Order: sequence, then structure tokens, then C-alpha cells
Amino acid sequence: MKSEEVKDEITNVLFTEAQIQKRLQELAQEVEDHYQGQDLLLVGVLKGAVVVMADFIRHLKRHAEMDWMAVSSYGSGTKSSGVVRIIKDLDQDVVNRNVLVIEDIIDSGLTLSWLVSNLRSRGARNVEVLTLLRKPDAAKVAVNVKFVGFDIPNDFVVGYGLDFAEKYRNLRDVAVLSPKMYS
Ligand code: IMP
Ligand code: MG
Repeated sequence: MKSEEVKDEITNVLFTEAQIQKRLQELAQEVEDHYQGQDLLLVGVLKGAVVVMADFIRHLKRHAEMDWMAVSSYGSGTKSSGVVRIIKDLDQDVVNRNVLVIEDIIDSGLTLSWLVSNLRSRGARNVEVLTLLRKPDAAKVAVNVKFVGFDIPNDFVVGYGLDFAEKYRNLRDVAVLSPKMYS
């Protein structure tokens, strides 16, 4: 779906499909340099990271494995509390693996912070994070995010895997959702 098709529901396009691909290609190069000569396991968190994962892994000019987790974070309303339950666990063992967590967006970073500790406690050799988008609040959390696509303002964005009530994941661009959609 293109932004044109939902132009009445968004206020503006933040990043076009082409801008996202260019940035993912640059990040792929950084990741190749960082993990030179080492194995690499990409771990995506369902469902938001599906689109980032699909494109990012194809920009990599090297081998990489892909695995997925589904988690649910307990919290009141829309804010996550950092208390997490695993809905679907990894298929693979992470002992001695170089794990790169693939994220769509980091806001409070609470779930991510839990996930990184969880993967470390299982004996991963190292755990790093790649996110397409990062919001200002992410700075408050003690998770070191090595690979960041874009830092964005505190607006609610949709598209490229990111949803509002499970919609807009199939929008090709990243766009700011019009406040009238949730007020
Ligand atoms: P955190 O645990 O607060 O970092 O929340 C991260 C999750 O909240 C993301 O994986 C998204 O599912 C959701 N989220 C945070 N900000 C946005 C947004 O602007 N648009 C859509 N989803 C968002
Ligand atoms: Mg979501």
C-alpha cells in the first residue's frame, strides 16, 4: 500500500520506501564490517520487525541465520512495563552465537532491555541491536543500540511493519499517523 492510498489518514511521510532501502543498505555494510569472519544470527521480534528483517537480510552480502520471538509485555494501557512473557521462543540455541536483534522502533526500550538480558543469560556470545527507528525516550534506557536507522521525534508513526491497531503494517513508507485517527 502506498501513502497516496491513505493520504487522508496521515499527516506526512517521514521516510519514503527509497530512503528506507538506502539506509538499510548502509546499515548492512556496517553490520558486515562489524561481524567480519564471524557467524551471525538475526533475531526478530514479531510482528513489527517482519518488514525490516525481510529487507535488511537481503541487503546483507554474507550469510546470516534468521530466527523469531514473540513476546507480550504486561502493562497498563499503551505503555509497556518491561515485564515480559514469551509467546513464541527461538527455534535455535543462542549459546556462543553472535546475536543481532532486529527491531522496527525503540520507544521506551523496556521490552528490548528485557530481551537483551534474556538472550545474554542464555549464553549468547554477544547481543547487539539494530533498529530502523528510535524515539527520544529510548535515551533513558540503558540498552546500547549499535545500529540505528533514523532518530525520529515523538510522533506516532505507522507503516513499514509498524501498526496502529494492527493496520498500516503494509504501508510502504513510514508516515506520521494523523491524530484524528486516534482521538
Ligand atoms: P517500547 O517497549 O516502549 O520501546 O515499545 C516498542 C514497541 O511499541 C514497538 O515495537 C512498537 O510495537 C510500539 N511502538 C512504539 N512507538 C510506536 C509508533 O510510533 N508507532 C507504532 N508502534 C509503536
Ligand atoms: Mg505494535
